Amino acid sequence: MTNDVKVSIRNLYKIFGSDPQAALEDVRGGMTKPQLLEQRQHVLGLSDINIDIRAGEITVIMGLSGSGKSTLIRHLNRLIDPTAGEIRIDGADILAYGEEALRQLRQERMSMVFQKFALLPHRTVLENAGMSMAIRGYSREEYESEANRWLDRVGLGGYGDHHPFQLSGGMQQRVGIARALTSNSEIMLMDEAFSALDPLIRTDMQNLLLELQNELHKTIVFITHDLDEALKLADHLVILNDGQVIQQGEPQGILLNPADPYIEDFVSDINRARVLRVRSVMEANEGEVDCIAGEVDHDDTLEHVIAKSRGDTSASYRVMKDGNQVGVLDMQSLVRALVPTHAAENGVRASMSD
Ligand SMILES: Nc1ncnc2c1ncn2[C@@H]1O[C@H](COP(=O)(O)OP(=O)(O)OP(=O)(O)O)[C@@H](O)[C@H]1O
Ligand SMILES: [Mg+2]
Repeated sequence: MTNDVKVSIRNLYKIFGSDPQAALEDVRGGMTKPQLLEQRQHVLGLSDINIDIRAGEITVIMGLSGSGKSTLIRHLNRLIDPTAGEIRIDGADILAYGEEALRQLRQERMSMVFQKFALLPHRTVLENAGMSMAIRGYSREEYESEANRWLDRVGLGGYGDHHPFQLSGGMQQRVGIARALTSNSEIMLMDEAFSALDPLIRTDMQNLLLELQNELHKTIVFITHDLDEALKLADHLVILNDGQVIQQGEPQGILLNPADPYIEDFVSDINRARVLRVRSVMEANEGEVDCIAGEVDHDDTLEHVIAKSRGDTSASYRVMKDGNQVGVLDMQSLVRALVPTHAAENGVRASMSD
């Protein structure tokens, strides 16, 4: 995690209601979301949010309905202004932006992919894909080749003349992604982008996103309420509850060290063998060890290692990364990692560290 910080969010609060500044004092004084609603008739949208969104990474914001995910992402393009706090993009305070800088931010530096696709029904697929360039004043001739390139890339080559209603949901969302890519923005905001899709199509889209990201290294902020999706996509995972960050960090670390009973509950149903990787459970060790049953890759899932061991719990494996030994994994540690830890055992608190 050495990438530069692209978006920095500091001490961000958002309170909905007639006098947010007065309510802010109550919140800073310790009032909870339910108390604020009951005693002050204000809604606590976000409370003291601190997040570093790194360039070239996928930051996933996860939380249940009403936890503040959309409110947070809408601050990034200033569809919502905060009650208090700071948002910097590439070091610049976007809350101080004038109209022109804001227009540029929304049209050129960021793109959004929505759950409901948000395609224009009377425009063709090609026109939808080229929309952001058209808004910036490019003619159809100018945006056509770029839009076609990305339509091809998301598997929609040949569909440029179709209209959205002629496409399935999955295909429409591919147009949404092609549109974001055609805009050539550095930052992509994706709010529940895959949540309306069937499970198999959803998996396809997740794979497509990861494949594109391997090539393009965009800064992506991805919102979901699905933990499996979050664990699959996230470089950095932020878990919200009632407008607060409960825990954030590298997803494997969160799974192994939940900071809070709420997170513990959240991760309790996860298939840990399928999600956890050898690198998170191994002992870092470059020397020789006895009883080595074979080699595994640092990025293999524990499920893969279990299959390889054929159930032999005495086995140890040499862990390899790019042809070099980086550690040793013994099956007993692997089995221990499959049993969820309790937050109380970790003594960890929500923190900014990975
Ligand atoms: N314009 C608004 N006025 C008043 N309250 C609002 C407004 N927008 C959001 N809220 C409140 O802020 C909180 C966070 O809402 P938000 O839409 O960000 O949740 P979410 O995590 O995106 O949920 P979902 O998963 O259902 O989309 C909720 O309690 C919601 O009622
Ligand atoms: Mg939402």
